[in-house]
Amino acid sequence: MVKTKLAIMASGTGSNFLAIMEKITQENWPIEITRLVVDHADANVINYANQFNVPVLVVDYHDGKKETEAKIIRQLQADKVSGIVLAGYMRILSAEFISHYPNRILNIHPALLPSFPGRHGIQDAYDYGVKVTGVTIHFVDATVDGGQIVAQSPVDIYDNETVEHLEPRIHEVEHRLYPTTIQNLVQRGVFQ
Ligand code: GAR
Repeated sequence: MVKTKLAIMASGTGSNFLAIMEKITQENWPIEITRLVVDHADANVINYANQFNVPVLVVDYHDGKKETEAKIIRQLQADKVSGIVLAGYMRILSAEFISHYPNRILNIHPALLPSFPGRHGIQDAYDYGVKVTGVTIHFVDATVDGGQIVAQSPVDIYDNETVEHLEPRIHEVEHRLYPTTIQNLVQRGVFQ
Protein backbone atom coordinates (compact mmCIF):
# COMPACT_ATOMS: atom_id res chain seq x y z
CA MET A 1 0.00 0.00 0.00
CA VAL A 2 1.54 3.31 -1.10
CA LYS A 3 0.98 5.85 1.63
CA THR A 4 0.58 9.60 1.20
CA LYS A 5 3.14 11.32 3.38
CA LEU A 6 1.89 14.35 5.27
CA ALA A 7 3.30 16.54 8.03
CA ILE A 8 1.19 18.06 10.79
CA MET A 9 2.06 21.45 12.27
CA ALA A 10 0.62 22.37 15.67
CA SER A 11 1.23 24.72 18.57
CA GLY A 12 -0.73 23.51 21.56
CA THR A 13 -3.08 20.92 22.97
CA GLY A 14 -3.12 18.66 19.94
CA SER A 15 -6.67 17.32 20.14
CA ASN A 16 -6.98 17.53 16.35
CA PHE A 17 -3.62 15.82 15.92
CA LEU A 18 -4.89 13.03 18.18
CA ALA A 19 -8.19 12.71 16.30
CA ILE A 20 -6.36 12.46 12.96
CA MET A 21 -3.84 9.88 14.25
CA GLU A 22 -6.57 7.76 15.81
CA LYS A 23 -8.55 7.60 12.57
CA ILE A 24 -5.48 6.85 10.41
CA THR A 25 -4.35 4.01 12.66
CA GLN A 26 -7.75 2.54 13.59
CA GLU A 27 -9.01 2.52 10.01
CA ASN A 28 -5.66 1.80 8.38
CA TRP A 29 -5.86 4.74 5.98
CA PRO A 30 -3.05 4.98 3.36
CA ILE A 31 -1.62 8.06 5.06
CA GLU A 32 1.66 8.39 6.94
CA ILE A 33 2.18 11.34 9.24
CA THR A 34 5.94 11.57 8.83
CA ARG A 35 6.55 14.56 11.08
CA LEU A 36 5.01 16.81 13.70
CA VAL A 37 6.33 20.36 13.52
CA VAL A 38 5.75 22.29 16.72
CA ASP A 39 6.78 25.81 17.70
CA HIS A 40 6.70 25.33 21.48
CA ALA A 41 9.00 22.82 23.18
CA ASP A 42 6.46 22.24 25.97
CA ALA A 43 3.34 21.83 23.81
CA ASN A 44 1.09 18.95 24.85
CA VAL A 45 0.80 17.79 21.23
CA ILE A 46 4.36 16.39 21.55
CA ASN A 47 3.05 13.79 24.01
CA TYR A 48 0.56 12.57 21.40
CA ALA A 49 3.31 12.44 18.75
CA ASN A 50 5.42 10.28 21.06
CA GLN A 51 2.41 8.03 21.70
CA PHE A 52 2.10 7.38 17.94
CA ASN A 53 5.86 7.35 17.26
CA VAL A 54 5.65 10.39 15.01
CA PRO A 55 9.05 12.14 14.77
CA VAL A 56 8.95 15.72 16.06
CA LEU A 57 10.69 18.85 14.81
CA VAL A 58 10.62 21.58 17.46
CA VAL A 59 11.31 25.03 16.04
CA ASP A 60 12.03 28.31 17.79
CA TYR A 61 10.86 31.45 16.03
CA HIS A 62 13.33 33.46 18.11
CA ASP A 63 15.82 32.25 15.49
CA GLY A 64 13.93 34.45 13.00
CA LYS A 65 10.86 33.64 10.91
CA LYS A 66 12.76 33.26 7.65
CA GLU A 67 15.36 30.93 9.15
CA THR A 68 12.71 28.93 10.99
CA GLU A 69 10.55 28.43 7.92
CA ALA A 70 13.62 27.44 5.89
CA LYS A 71 14.47 24.84 8.55
CA ILE A 72 10.94 23.43 8.38
CA ILE A 73 10.97 23.25 4.58
CA ARG A 74 14.37 21.49 4.63
CA GLN A 75 13.01 18.88 7.05
CA LEU A 76 9.77 18.32 5.15
CA GLN A 77 11.62 17.98 1.87
CA ALA A 78 13.94 15.43 3.47
CA ASP A 79 10.84 13.62 4.75
CA LYS A 80 9.37 13.76 1.21
CA VAL A 81 6.00 14.95 2.43
CA SER A 82 3.48 15.87 -0.24
CA GLY A 83 1.25 18.04 1.93
CA ILE A 84 0.89 19.78 5.28
CA VAL A 85 -1.96 19.75 7.78
CA LEU A 86 -2.14 22.72 10.15
CA ALA A 87 -3.84 21.65 13.37
CA GLY A 88 -3.89 24.66 15.66
CA TYR A 89 -0.64 26.12 14.31
CA MET A 90 -0.86 29.66 15.62
CA ARG A 91 1.54 31.29 13.17
CA ILE A 92 1.08 32.94 9.81
CA LEU A 93 3.11 31.19 7.14
CA SER A 94 4.89 33.40 4.61
CA ALA A 95 3.99 33.40 0.92
CA GLU A 96 7.47 31.96 0.32
CA PHE A 97 6.75 29.01 2.60
CA ILE A 98 3.33 28.38 1.06
CA SER A 99 4.79 28.47 -2.47
CA HIS A 100 6.55 25.16 -1.70
CA TYR A 101 3.17 23.43 -1.21
CA PRO A 102 0.61 25.34 -3.31
CA ASN A 103 -2.93 24.14 -2.50
CA ARG A 104 -1.44 21.33 -0.45
CA ILE A 105 -1.55 23.00 2.96
CA LEU A 106 -4.78 22.52 4.91
CA ASN A 107 -5.99 24.48 7.92
CA ILE A 108 -8.87 24.09 10.34
CA HIS A 109 -10.67 27.08 11.81
CA PRO A 110 -13.27 27.00 14.61
CA ALA A 111 -15.83 29.27 12.91
CA LEU A 112 -17.60 29.56 9.57
CA LEU A 113 -15.11 31.52 7.46
CA PRO A 114 -15.01 34.15 6.10
CA SER A 115 -16.67 35.18 9.38
CA PHE A 116 -14.54 35.39 12.52
CA PRO A 117 -11.00 34.73 11.24
CA GLY A 118 -8.03 34.98 13.61
CA ARG A 119 -7.03 33.39 16.88
CA HIS A 120 -10.35 33.51 18.73
CA GLY A 121 -12.93 32.24 16.27
CA ILE A 122 -15.17 30.54 18.86
CA GLN A 123 -15.20 33.48 21.27
CA ASP A 124 -15.61 36.08 18.50
CA ALA A 125 -18.62 34.30 17.00
CA TYR A 126 -20.13 33.86 20.46
CA ASP A 127 -19.57 37.51 21.42
CA TYR A 128 -21.12 38.71 18.16
CA GLY A 129 -24.27 36.78 19.00
CA VAL A 130 -24.62 34.65 15.87
CA LYS A 131 -27.04 31.75 16.18
CA VAL A 132 -25.03 29.45 13.94
CA THR A 133 -21.26 29.05 13.95
CA GLY A 134 -19.19 26.01 13.01
CA VAL A 135 -15.97 24.64 11.62
CA THR A 136 -14.13 25.38 8.37
CA ILE A 137 -11.38 23.47 6.62
CA HIS A 138 -9.58 25.37 3.91
CA PHE A 139 -6.45 25.50 1.84
CA VAL A 140 -3.92 28.02 3.06
CA ASP A 141 -2.90 31.01 1.03
CA ALA A 142 -0.96 34.09 2.10
CA THR A 143 -4.00 35.70 3.80
CA VAL A 144 -5.04 35.05 7.42
CA ASP A 145 -7.59 32.20 7.41
CA GLY A 146 -8.16 32.84 3.70
CA GLY A 147 -7.79 30.35 0.87
CA GLN A 148 -10.24 28.03 -0.83
CA ILE A 149 -12.78 26.41 1.48
CA VAL A 150 -12.83 22.61 1.32
CA ALA A 151 -15.41 21.68 3.96
CA GLN A 152 -17.66 23.32 6.52
CA SER A 153 -19.94 22.06 9.23
CA PRO A 154 -22.45 24.25 11.11
CA VAL A 155 -22.98 24.26 14.87
CA ASP A 156 -26.07 25.92 16.37
CA ILE A 157 -25.52 28.17 19.38
CA TYR A 158 -28.30 27.46 21.84
CA ASP A 159 -30.24 30.18 23.66
CA ASN A 160 -28.45 31.09 26.89
CA GLU A 161 -25.55 28.77 26.09
CA THR A 162 -22.22 29.68 27.68
CA VAL A 163 -19.04 29.81 25.61
CA GLU A 164 -17.63 27.11 27.91
CA HIS A 165 -20.47 24.83 26.81
CA LEU A 166 -20.10 25.73 23.13
CA GLU A 167 -16.36 25.18 22.93
CA PRO A 168 -16.27 21.38 23.36
CA ARG A 169 -19.15 21.04 20.90
CA ILE A 170 -17.07 22.88 18.28
CA HIS A 171 -14.06 20.68 18.99
CA GLU A 172 -16.14 17.54 18.67
CA VAL A 173 -17.18 18.63 15.17
CA GLU A 174 -13.55 19.44 14.33
CA HIS A 175 -12.43 15.98 15.40
CA ARG A 176 -14.98 14.37 13.08
CA LEU A 177 -14.61 16.72 10.11
CA TYR A 178 -10.83 17.07 9.85
CA PRO A 179 -9.84 13.39 9.56
CA THR A 180 -12.57 12.57 7.02
CA THR A 181 -11.76 15.66 4.94
CA ILE A 182 -8.07 14.73 4.85
CA GLN A 183 -8.97 11.18 3.85
CA ASN A 184 -11.27 12.46 1.07
CA LEU A 185 -8.57 14.73 -0.33
CA VAL A 186 -6.01 11.93 -0.23
CA GLN A 187 -8.44 9.61 -2.04
CA ARG A 188 -8.99 12.26 -4.70
CA GLY A 189 -5.22 12.51 -5.24
CA VAL A 190 -5.03 16.15 -4.18
CA PHE A 191 -1.66 15.65 -2.47
CA GLN A 192 -0.01 13.77 -5.35
C1 GAR B 1 -8.60 24.27 17.12
O1 GAR B 1 -9.85 24.61 17.65
C2 GAR B 1 -8.40 24.95 15.79
O2 GAR B 1 -9.57 25.10 15.05
C3 GAR B 1 -7.86 26.29 16.21
O3 GAR B 1 -6.97 25.97 17.25
C4 GAR B 1 -7.47 24.86 17.98
C5 GAR B 1 -6.36 23.87 18.21
O4 GAR B 1 -6.78 22.87 19.10
N1 GAR B 1 -7.24 26.99 15.13
C6 GAR B 1 -7.38 28.31 14.90
O5 GAR B 1 -8.01 29.04 15.63
C7 GAR B 1 -6.72 28.82 13.62
N2 GAR B 1 -7.06 30.16 13.37
P1 GAR B 1 -5.95 21.52 19.27
O6 GAR B 1 -4.51 21.91 19.57
O7 GAR B 1 -6.58 20.83 20.44
O8 GAR B 1 -6.05 20.73 17.98
